[in-house]
Amino acid sequence: MTLYDLVAPCLDTCAEPRYRITEIRDADPLGADALLAALPAMNRDADVPALTVALRALVPDLDRVAEWCVIEALAAMRDLGMLLGSLKRHGAQPVAAVPEVLPVLEELARRTDMVPRDTVHHYTTWNPLGRRQRMYTGHEMEAHLQEAVRMVFPSLVAALDTCGQLARLEPYDPGFALALDRTAQHVQAMVDSIDFTIDNVSPSYFARTLRPYFEEIDVAGHSYLGPAAAQVPLWLVDLTVWQCDRPHPGYDAFLAESVEYSLPSWRAFHAAHRGGVSAVSKLSAALSWETVHRLPPELVASAHSLARVLRILKTFRARHIGIARKAYSDDLRLYDEGSGGAPVALLRSVLDLTRDNETLVRQATQRPRPTAA
Ligand code: HEM
Repeated sequence: MTLYDLVAPCLDTCAEPRYRITEIRDADPLGADALLAALPAMNRDADVPALTVALRALVPDLDRVAEWCVIEALAAMRDLGMLLGSLKRHGAQPVAAVPEVLPVLEELARRTDMVPRDTVHHYTTWNPLGRRQRMYTGHEMEAHLQEAVRMVFPSLVAALDTCGQLARLEPYDPGFALALDRTAQHVQAMVDSIDFTIDNVSPSYFARTLRPYFEEIDVAGHSYLGPAAAQVPLWLVDLTVWQCDRPHPGYDAFLAESVEYSLPSWRAFHAAHRGGVSAVSKLSAALSWETVHRLPPELVASAHSLARVLRILKTFRARHIGIARKAYSDDLRLYDEGSGGAPVALLRSVLDLTRDNETLVRQATQRPRPTAA
C-alpha cells in the first residue's frame, strides 16, 4: 500500500470539492469519454479539422454550465483542456479556431475559481484512471508522467497543514520539530515521484513528443501555460521552510506565475505566508541568542528536523535537474524554456538556494561555541 492509498480516501470525504478526487474523476459532464478515447489517434494524424470539430462538439451551453457544481466544472475543464492543448500542439490557437469555447472557459474559471484553462491537476490528479484516462498520445510514458504527478498531490495537500503549523511555532517548541518531521514524510513523495519518472519516462519522449502539448494558449488576450509538472506546488513547502523572507528575483517571478495556476486555498496560503518569517530565519535568530556551550535540546531537534526537510527538497531537485537537463539538451530540445515558462537555469538557482539553506542550518548547529568560564 502506498502513501497515496492511505491519504487519498481521506481527501475524498473532504468538504473542499477540489480534493474530492474520485468524484471529479468519475464525472463526465460533457459526455466526452468516447470522443477523448479517440484523441491519441487524432493527434497521431495531426488531424486539426477533426480536433476542431471535436472541441466544437464538446462545448456546452452556458445554461448547462450554470447548473454544474464545482466537481462537474473541474471535470468539464479537464476534458476541454485536452483539446485545447492538442490543437495548439498542431499549430492552431484553440480559442481562435472555436470562438464559442471562450465564454465557457471564462465561466468554468469563475465557477472553479481557477485560471480559464486546464492545469496540471486537471491533467493528472483529476484525470480518470484505466479505460477513461485522458491522454494526448496514449503512450505508456505519458501515463507514467501523469502517475508521477498524481502520486504527490495528497502529500502536498498534507504538507499544507504541517507547514501552516510550522509557521505558527517557534524553534524552542517541540512541535516545531514535529511539524518538520511530518513535512519531511510528505516531501519524500517528491523524491519517489522523480525516481519513478527517471525510471519510466525517457527525456527524448518528453522533449520530442509530449512537451509540445504543454504549450501556452491565448484566452481573451492573455497567455496561459499548459498543464506542466512545474505547476506542482512544491513552493507550498518552500514558502514557510525557507523562501518567504529570502527574495530571489528569478524564483520569485516564477512563483508569482505558478501561484496563479493553483487552487484557491493554496493561493490563500501563499498570500497569508509570503510576508512571514521562514523556519530557517526563526532558527537562525534563536541560535544567535544561544551563547552557552550546550544548545537547548529542543533547538537541536528543530535544527536536525529542518536540515532533514531541506535535504529531501535538495535530493528531489538534484535528481529532477538531471532529467530536465537531458530533456532540454541541445540535442533534444524543441524549446528553450520549460513548459512552466522558465529555463533549466532556474532549476539550478532553486537547487542552489535549497542547498545554501541546508548548509546554513547544518553549520549553525556545528559552529564552535565559547566554553563556559
Ligand atoms: C520528463 C520529466 C520532467 C522534465 C523534463 C521537467 C523539467 C522541468 C523544467 C525545465 C522546469 C523549469 C520550469 C519550467 O518548466 O518552465 C521544471 C520545474 C519544476 N518541475 Fe519538472 N520536469 C519533469 C518532471 C517533473 C515531475 C514528475 C515533477 C513532480 C512531480 C516535477 C516538478 C517540478 C517542480 C516542482 C518545478 C518547479 C521548480 C522547483 O520547485 O524546483 N517535474 N521542470
